[in-house]
Amino acid sequence: MCGIVGYVGHRDCLPILIEGIKRLEYRGYDSAGVAVQTAGGLVVVKASGKIRALEARLLQEGAPKGTFGIAHTRWATHGEPNDVNAHPHTDEQCSVALVHNGIIENYATLKSALQAEGHVFCTETDTEVLAHLIEKYMRRGLKLERAVGSALKDVEGTYGIAVMAASEPGVLVGARHGSPMVVGISDGEYYLGSDVAAIVEHTRQVIYLDDGEMAVLSPAGFHTATIALERVEKEVHDVDWDLSQIEKGGYEHFMLKEIMEQPDAVRNAMRGRLNVEEGLARLGGLNMTPEQLREIRRIIILGCGTSWHAGLIGEYMLEEFARSPVEVEYASEFRYRNPIVDEGTLVLVISQSGETIDTLAAMREAGRKGARALGIVNVVGSTIARESDGGVYIHAGPEIGVASTKAFTSQVTVLSLLTLALGRHRGLSRDYGIEIARELAALPGKIEHVLAGDAAIKRIAELYKHHNNLLYLGRGFNFPVALEGALKLKEISYIHAEGYPAAEMKHGPIALIDESMPVVFICTRDSAYEKVVSNMMEVRARKGRIIAIATEGDTEMAARADHVLYVPASIPMLQPILSVIPLQLLAYHVAVSRGCDVDQPRNLAKSVTVE
Ligand code: G6P
Repeated sequence: MCGIVGYVGHRDCLPILIEGIKRLEYRGYDSAGVAVQTAGGLVVVKASGKIRALEARLLQEGAPKGTFGIAHTRWATHGEPNDVNAHPHTDEQCSVALVHNGIIENYATLKSALQAEGHVFCTETDTEVLAHLIEKYMRRGLKLERAVGSALKDVEGTYGIAVMAASEPGVLVGARHGSPMVVGISDGEYYLGSDVAAIVEHTRQVIYLDDGEMAVLSPAGFHTATIALERVEKEVHDVDWDLSQIEKGGYEHFMLKEIMEQPDAVRNAMRGRLNVEEGLARLGGLNMTPEQLREIRRIIILGCGTSWHAGLIGEYMLEEFARSPVEVEYASEFRYRNPIVDEGTLVLVISQSGETIDTLAAMREAGRKGARALGIVNVVGSTIARESDGGVYIHAGPEIGVASTKAFTSQVTVLSLLTLALGRHRGLSRDYGIEIARELAALPGKIEHVLAGDAAIKRIAELYKHHNNLLYLGRGFNFPVALEGALKLKEISYIHAEGYPAAEMKHGPIALIDESMPVVFICTRDSAYEKVVSNMMEVRARKGRIIAIATEGDTEMAARADHVLYVPASIPMLQPILSVIPLQLLAYHVAVSRGCDVDQPRNLAKSVTVE
């Protein structure tokens, strides 16, 4: 949440900063701003709205010239998204400028104390206290680095910050606690970014700051230290992807590009990991011996949003084939209970970004109680990936659209591999292992086939784009697909949609059914098929409109539903990877035809780094 970019070097910084925050706009997009160190001091320009509003203002007011600067794209927490509350924030004299991602929890106490000392505040944000605090310490004679360290000791909460001071031109300090921060290294040029996307255009050499660490950059070099100012040496990582992967590549939206990338994403999730002949999966990053895999007594899956839905599918498959009790928990709930976790518990932490604060905190809580945590993460080098005891990258490539698509199918693919790997140590037969592996290997081709049906899905979207409510129903492995289909629609088209287990319809949602209520049934051929068909008939009897996702060859479905979208058959545990795709496309086309901003839906952010 919130995107931060910083630059020190010898080039005009403004285009670098603006381009950087544009690449981070998916993290937040309600206001934006820049601060540039000019010959006349720090100049701050900010504007509410998307980054194009900031660009318009820069054109109008004139672009500040300088080679050192910071920029921010905001997702509001404290204070409405207007010009004043946009970052960067400064003290009264504009001697310190700062951008922040996170929440300063004790800001009210700090603010009162600073006001009592004569500081005058002009925003409703929590962030502004940091600018004043740093300025206070600098006024006492501390250099910027020390002043930042002192200020951060006073602070409770989470932060990723980038700070400059008018009195120290060319020095840029970044720090993190709970919100990601990456340092980019190039020749005489250094960058800060809240993720690699902001800077990958300029350098692929990066350092990931850990909590409680800061980086001090200047054109002459950089160093890293704790906020207590003890020097730390950090490993320099090579980013293994490039700019083309975070561009639209001819598609109108990132979301559509990412939906269409799913054959490759799923292929990449399996690459080098699947042994079809033996019905095995090799997952080197688990860091667990076969004995440890056999000794697992219980599995807890943690995630938020779409990742939580993937976890639900994981629960069904792990229970069935790895024969372990599984619970799936919203990370945000788990962390504030006193969950029963012990050394026999394996925790699977699912997160596309690897930075979702609730998921990260829940993982840490489980670790404190003695559980082993494995991350199922997309973003390489992210905090969950680094702090987990082991894990499996999903290798979906950068996902920019705020609504998750290819990460979901890749997460389910990795959960299937994990089921296979665990299952084969816990009683799953070689024969069934081979069948799972064969079906996994066939998935990319089948996904391509589903994607080829896009035009038919678009036609259905046109028919339903004016409805205000939709219900999504499924059972078994298709129940989480119903949840995910409904989530996609509401996220990007703002249509109210609910996912429900099909049989539960009779305990409430059936009261909503009339001729104006479309119901999406995920009704592929599995053991619950007949039961779901009965539910379909109950909807039909009440004049509900039915869109069915059905298995190819199920010709009877045409007589039951108003519209049928066919997907190839697979084994039930893998069916979600196919049946979710028409629902992603349906949501996409409905949202586009309603004129919604598909990649940046209102109020949402890709990476939720505040509670
Ligand atoms: C946000 C995103 C969702 C995502 C969820 C969890 O809500 O908009 O698309 O599913 O966070 O994110 P994670 O990165 O942990 O998977």
